[in-house]
Amino acid sequence: MKTTVKQGTLTGTPTEVLVIPGYEEDSSMGKAIQPLDRNLGGQLSELRKSGEFQGKANQTVLVHTRGAVPAKRILLVGLGKREDLTLDRIRQAMGTAAKRVRQTEARSFSAVIPGVNRSGMWPDDLAQAMVDGVILGDYRFTTYRTDTSSKNKPLNSMTILVDTASIVNTVKRGIQRGEATGEATCFARDLSNHPANVMTPSRVVEEAKKVAKEKKVKLTVLNPSKMKQLGMGGVLGVGQASQHPPQFIILEYQGGKKGEKPIVFVGKTVTFDSGGISLKPSENMERMKADMTGGSAVLATLRAAARLSLPLNIIGLLPVAENMPGGRATKPGDVLTMLSGKTVEVQNTDAEGRLILADGLAYAGRLKPACVIDIATLTGACTVALGQFAIGLLGTDNKLKDQFKAAGERAGERVWEMPLWDEYFEQLKSDVADMRNIGGRGGGMITAALFLKQFVGNFPWVHLDIASTDWSASDRPCISKGPTATGTRLLIQFLLNTVNKPQK
Ligand code: BES
Ligand code: ZN
Ligand code: ZN
Repeated sequence: MKTTVKQGTLTGTPTEVLVIPGYEEDSSMGKAIQPLDRNLGGQLSELRKSGEFQGKANQTVLVHTRGAVPAKRILLVGLGKREDLTLDRIRQAMGTAAKRVRQTEARSFSAVIPGVNRSGMWPDDLAQAMVDGVILGDYRFTTYRTDTSSKNKPLNSMTILVDTASIVNTVKRGIQRGEATGEATCFARDLSNHPANVMTPSRVVEEAKKVAKEKKVKLTVLNPSKMKQLGMGGVLGVGQASQHPPQFIILEYQGGKKGEKPIVFVGKTVTFDSGGISLKPSENMERMKADMTGGSAVLATLRAAARLSLPLNIIGLLPVAENMPGGRATKPGDVLTMLSGKTVEVQNTDAEGRLILADGLAYAGRLKPACVIDIATLTGACTVALGQFAIGLLGTDNKLKDQFKAAGERAGERVWEMPLWDEYFEQLKSDVADMRNIGGRGGGMITAALFLKQFVGNFPWVHLDIASTDWSASDRPCISKGPTATGTRLLIQFLLNTVNKPQK
């Protein structure tokens, strides 16, 4: 979908649908809307008065204008109470609007930028949230559907209508960012949506090759024999029973100065998690095709960074494996020697994410990173603790943690911190190796992160557990049922904030 910005009036803009956001408990229609209301014979104020349009969050009402103004239809969409406004409210209202516009079978529409008088919500932020919302709200995964009727066609274009020329360039900047975050999320959703018989480790490599076609992105892939040479016991141990050999992907984007320390992302990329010998129950096992979402988010973030030409050096690491049972599989009790040299007793083969990430984090340490962020669908315990609206955040560096808290608020993908105290290591002790890969009862999200910490060098590090938010059981305004690609916008927003306020 393409978005442009135009200066114009509500009564003078020809369009298929004109989307107008409105607040709850706003009896006046707002000055800008009055001429439009007059031309429509008072229809809009009538809808307010009768209570048919109250402006509640994500409420919509569609009005056909029948030639009274150049816009064929008006779509009112609610933002909720003015004092509760957040960027995510705007994002969701636009996601809702996109779905409603699509129902009309119009492919292009215009939208008015909402009037706000609040700091931290400048026209570029508003435009970013609007574009992001529309792209996300319009997302469908149709690759495997044979029905190609017109209802399945995505939206083509949106025009953001502004009343003064002075903000046009600012809005343009926001559009560019919204396109980057929205498209990246759709790309990551596609990756996680593809079934595991298609999205195998070698297919992930193909996808990384496509990303490497962007300017300034370089790809290196370590195959199993190279991994053996290096001693990546974690990735090899998890992937060894699969018919699809494991891979280790390194994507480097050089947008910053030569020699400037890179930001390193490590994404758990398990293309299917059957649990291995510690086999998972069959109910919902199909969801484990999305156990690669950490990797999807990292790939998509690298692509977005390159498309936005961000002035940063960024490296994405993807340890990729399919976790399967079989005659050659890692068994409970097996001991693996990891890239860092530490040994791990595998007591449960279903706790595989931490094994592949351990090698990813050890590899990251060799890259002299400015900071390292890992992102993973790591523990069911994360869902138990946080439900479906917060990403788990743990780490060793307060400043970096604060940056992620701030980015989460802006991106509409909020994080919640859990403790990472060394006391919990007691639960990870093994009788035969340096540690075991499960932490027993209690604090499952914490012990998993503490396991990862054993492989983290002397650099700022945060871990994002996205098992809670990774899959949506229902369609929501900006989140489609199924894989959500959660964390993608969070990572990109973190980069955008870093560019705006470089941290030394
Ligand atoms: N991929 C799962 C975690 C997961 C569960 C993600 C549900 C999304 C939804 C992970 O590999 C796993 O199986 N973790 C185990 C760890 C346990 C054996 C210590 C878990 O959480 O049950
Ligand atoms: Zn598992
Ligand atoms: Zn897993």
